[in-house]
Amino acid sequence: MEQERLHPEATGDLSNLLYDICLAAKIIARNVRRAGLTDILGGTTTVNVSGDLQQKLDLVANETVRNSLQHTGRICVMASEEDEAPIPVPANVPAGKYVVLYDPLDGSSNIDVNVSIGTIFSIYRRVSPEGTPGKLADCLQEGLRQVVAGYILYGSSTMLVYTTGNGVHGFTLDPTIGEFLLSHAHIRTPEVGKYYSVNESNWNKWTPATQRVVGAFKNGDGAMKGKTARYIGSLVADFHRNLISGGVFLYPGDRKVPQGKLRLLYEAAPLAFIVEQAGGAATDGSRRILEIAPQELHQHTPLVIGSRSDVEFATARMAAE
Ligand code: AHG
Ligand code: MN
Ligand code: MN
Repeated sequence: MEQERLHPEATGDLSNLLYDICLAAKIIARNVRRAGLTDILGGTTTVNVSGDLQQKLDLVANETVRNSLQHTGRICVMASEEDEAPIPVPANVPAGKYVVLYDPLDGSSNIDVNVSIGTIFSIYRRVSPEGTPGKLADCLQEGLRQVVAGYILYGSSTMLVYTTGNGVHGFTLDPTIGEFLLSHAHIRTPEVGKYYSVNESNWNKWTPATQRVVGAFKNGDGAMKGKTARYIGSLVADFHRNLISGGVFLYPGDRKVPQGKLRLLYEAAPLAFIVEQAGGAATDGSRRILEIAPQELHQHTPLVIGSRSDVEFATARMAAE
């Protein structure tokens, strides 16, 4: 409401879209919290366009987000990690002015072992003419044009963290009333991180520059002290810990997969908007994530994200290679 009051011309559409996303989050949270008691764990027999085996909860979360948004008249098109093509709104629903890109369930490998997972979303204004069906071009916008970016972390508590470009704010779900309540206003991330977060089993596939950077985070380098290693394997959880405590997360490209594993539109770009609004930084090892012009819906990007001085340290060395 405070953000809306900053814009007298606001129609309330964006606030309502955020409420729609919060509804989806509450339903997903309920499913996550009871996963062991219902037949919702485990994998399916299908893979998504990135080649990941889809977990049952991936698909339930995907349906939940789509069903919470597609009939609202607030969006003209959606795109999901779990759907190859953009998702049109039903023919009998007016096309709204917003576009929502999302990773419905991030950290799928952690679902069955009760480790924190999340949902990531990114909202743009449409670029195609009002009143026409939304299209792929509405989804392929560079991160700087985001209107809202956010995530829900299904952790020890369920938190919504988002930015509209006026700082980063965290809300904690109070299950006794079913509402997200403001708990972390104006989150700022420390300039220097306490943690480094990377899957070191990929060490031998990395470039020498990446190995030098990770080695420096581990052992220190001149004025920079060595950091503590933490790797949860859910991007949202690793990102959130670093946002609050200070840290740097890396998913670099390597010789076999130069673009890395993570996706630009619904993982890197929304988290990059959030981290920059909290005083941090995000690059692909050379370019600012928010300035990358997407060519494809599911394109991958290497990612270095978190405390500003750590990201700059890494990027200066990885870009020079
Ligand atoms: P998703 O479950 O949406 O496919 O995302 C998983 C991603 C991300 O959450 C995490 O940082 C990364 O996969 C972990 O990959 P590795 O297991 O290769 O380290
Ligand atoms: Mn993900
Ligand atoms: Mn996912």
